[in-house]
Amino acid sequence: MSAIDFKLIKTDSSSAARLGSLTTPHGKIDTPIFMPVGTHATVKAMTPEELTEVGAQIILANTYHLYMRPGHELVARMGGLHEFMHWQGPILTDSGGFQVFSLGELRKITEEGVKFQSHLDGSYHFISPETSMEIQAALGGDIIMCFDECPPYPADYAYIAKSMEMTSRWALRCKNVKKRADQALFGIVQGGMFSDLRERSALALQEIGFDGYALGGVSVGEEKELMHEVMGFSAPFLPVDKPRYVMGIGAPEDLIEGINAGFDMFDCVMPTRNARNGMVFTSFGRLNIKGARYAEDRLPIDPECGCYVCKNYSRAYLRHLFKSGEILASRLNTWHNLHYYLSLMAGARQAIAEDRFADFRRDFYAKRETM
Ligand code: GUN
Ligand code: ZN
Repeated sequence: MSAIDFKLIKTDSSSAARLGSLTTPHGKIDTPIFMPVGTHATVKAMTPEELTEVGAQIILANTYHLYMRPGHELVARMGGLHEFMHWQGPILTDSGGFQVFSLGELRKITEEGVKFQSHLDGSYHFISPETSMEIQAALGGDIIMCFDECPPYPADYAYIAKSMEMTSRWALRCKNVKKRADQALFGIVQGGMFSDLRERSALALQEIGFDGYALGGVSVGEEKELMHEVMGFSAPFLPVDKPRYVMGIGAPEDLIEGINAGFDMFDCVMPTRNARNGMVFTSFGRLNIKGARYAEDRLPIDPECGCYVCKNYSRAYLRHLFKSGEILASRLNTWHNLHYYLSLMAGARQAIAEDRFADFRRDFYAKRETM
């Protein structure tokens, strides 16, 4: 028995886009869905109630960071992530596989696992498939991820092949030590930009058998077009009846392309991080709220947006808050950006339901050209 239940409701007739519903121990998610990132068990600047208000259905948290601080055992003693952070909806935790590579210093990768130094205090740590599963069991997310190696880009074929084979062996170890029946475990497909390696990785993982499948190792510095290509040729290697998740993407157009390729779940720091830097998303493109041209602009961020921020605040005021370094600038920009991402997903779901995703995708691009 799986901890989750995925129902494929409809597949678009003119693309690979899918409409689905994913039931988890903490509630149901409509797919395609975007998952706001709450690295330290908080989606920066937003309370859980506010997340619900902008349309969030599931959030992501990070094994690596929470293991470092405050420690997974402390989180477990405090009742697990849901209780600790006061978010009663579904949570997905990433395995640490990616963060160890992007944040850990002086890391040493062996078959056993990864030894690295903390980015906080330089202390030595070791994470293996087994310890990642133990940490994720303690955190208590609804969906947990296999411990994988996310290889750098560019890297040659031989390196990527070797790395991908190790990720497959690590995936088997994760499956073998998974502890909790109320957590779903997703495998992570690696293989860089090589179609044959992606296929071998996907098949090896399916042989082991997971509750869902993720595409890792994308958005690692490659050209956007190549990333879209990798999503396009990899999705057909994945089972139809299980959720498919692209890790760490992306910009709005990347989500549209991911949905078009047949993926169901996405996560990225882009809407939240960019908001704190004054960059906001609109249906006609991005704008930087710092711009002098907004100094006396009475319009909301996006005249077509129905969010709390766009209903109540002008670009001029938001620019003023940002220029003054006010904490409310981060809160309001994050609010709008998450609302934008989550309504884009809601729009995509509606379009798939009505079998007009191709039109939806075309309109999405056409509108941006009017800015
Ligand atoms: N987040 C973004 N990319 C990856 C990846 O390849 N692996 C993991 N574990 N997390 C990611
Ligand atoms: Zn808005």
